[in-house]
Amino acid sequence: MTVSGTLRVPGDKSISHRALLLSALSDGPCRIAGILESADVRSTADVLRTLGFDIPRLASDVVVRGSGLHAVKQPLAPLDCGNSGTTTRLIAGVAAASPVMATFIGDASLSRRPMRRVARPLAAMGARIELPPHEGLPMTIHGGSLQPIEWRSDVASAQVKSAVLLAALVAGVNAAVMEPMPSRDHTERMLAARGISVTVNNGRVHIAGEGRLRAVDVRVPGDPSSAAFFAALAAVADAGHLVLEHVCVNETRTGFLRLLRGMGARVAEEGRHHEGGEPVADLVVGPGALRGATVDAIDVPSMIDELPLLACIATRTSGETIITGARELRVKESDRIAAVVGNLRTIGACADELPDGMRITGSRGPLTGRVITQGDHRLAMAFGVLGAIPGNEIEVDDPDCVTVSYPNFWADLARVRSG
Ligand code: S3P
Repeated sequence: MTVSGTLRVPGDKSISHRALLLSALSDGPCRIAGILESADVRSTADVLRTLGFDIPRLASDVVVRGSGLHAVKQPLAPLDCGNSGTTTRLIAGVAAASPVMATFIGDASLSRRPMRRVARPLAAMGARIELPPHEGLPMTIHGGSLQPIEWRSDVASAQVKSAVLLAALVAGVNAAVMEPMPSRDHTERMLAARGISVTVNNGRVHIAGEGRLRAVDVRVPGDPSSAAFFAALAAVADAGHLVLEHVCVNETRTGFLRLLRGMGARVAEEGRHHEGGEPVADLVVGPGALRGATVDAIDVPSMIDELPLLACIATRTSGETIITGARELRVKESDRIAAVVGNLRTIGACADELPDGMRITGSRGPLTGRVITQGDHRLAMAFGVLGAIPGNEIEVDDPDCVTVSYPNFWADLARVRSG
């Protein structure tokens, strides 16, 4: 198989959510170019509309008329976050600091996911929060004036960190968050670009919650988590040279690319520059004789969403891949440890669950069977990559679930591979 050509993957999902939200809270019009037009980002747009913001229909170039930090209106309906944890947890921070009562709901997968991790710091700041016994959704937030906080989070989660920072921003109070490991820092970068004082000292992220949010235009770079699928396919190919244009290469997001290089693939960055506070580059990826890899807790945050993909391509390497310190995978869109290992075994790969990760042994044997994604977009795409390798016959039960983050995934996959 040859994997070659040039591909521009869609806009970064994390940055797209934040661009919409921070533009809505800004003090003037903000143009957003290259926003991800996917189901998850549409959930953020819909929830913001329900909170009274004027959000246009998503398009490759949109202008959001910012309404300011105090524009949240009492919603007349529950806030339906669909499948999106980022929508729920980031907007929870905004609702907690606003004089409203808001109930967050979502699909079956999102409703199972843990919300206590955001409810605790927001309650400690002064919001009243009701959670069901399983501590997922529906979650009702009674917001109002909040007090400053120093929060030590027991999980490395950009969603939790962002919820606290956004609550402090809207409430106009100071806040600091400490995490066991640094998580993605797009919220901090985007706040700083809009004139907010955000400082990071020894892993402690501090926001001075005063003032207004300046309107700034955003150009959303390509999503490294989407680019990862194609980088992985190019790495396991027999030949070729794939260029992935204009990808966000923020180092809190590029752990998988670094690992892929360490496993033996050719991965290079070209034309690195900064755009709107984020580093951006073209990635050039080619095959190599891949070896297995070891991933520990310290590596996990920078590749958290790519671990299902790593597990899939680990089946096509020599040696063993061991992932530990990744218990968070159990509370993503699915239990990604159980789901990935279960599906790998179904198609004939050698994989074992660990309490906080998995162990995969590479082989050359063909992989065949039907994968149950449980509606998890990243599972569909990771197994899609494996299924695109000649010799494997893999059917994905719900290919349409990729609309959550990458609606054109299957067409792009077909375009870059030949032979
Ligand atoms: C995200 C943070 C990560 C990641 C998710 C997007 C974000 O979740 O897995 O896909 O945009 O902040 P956690 O914050 O729960 O680690």
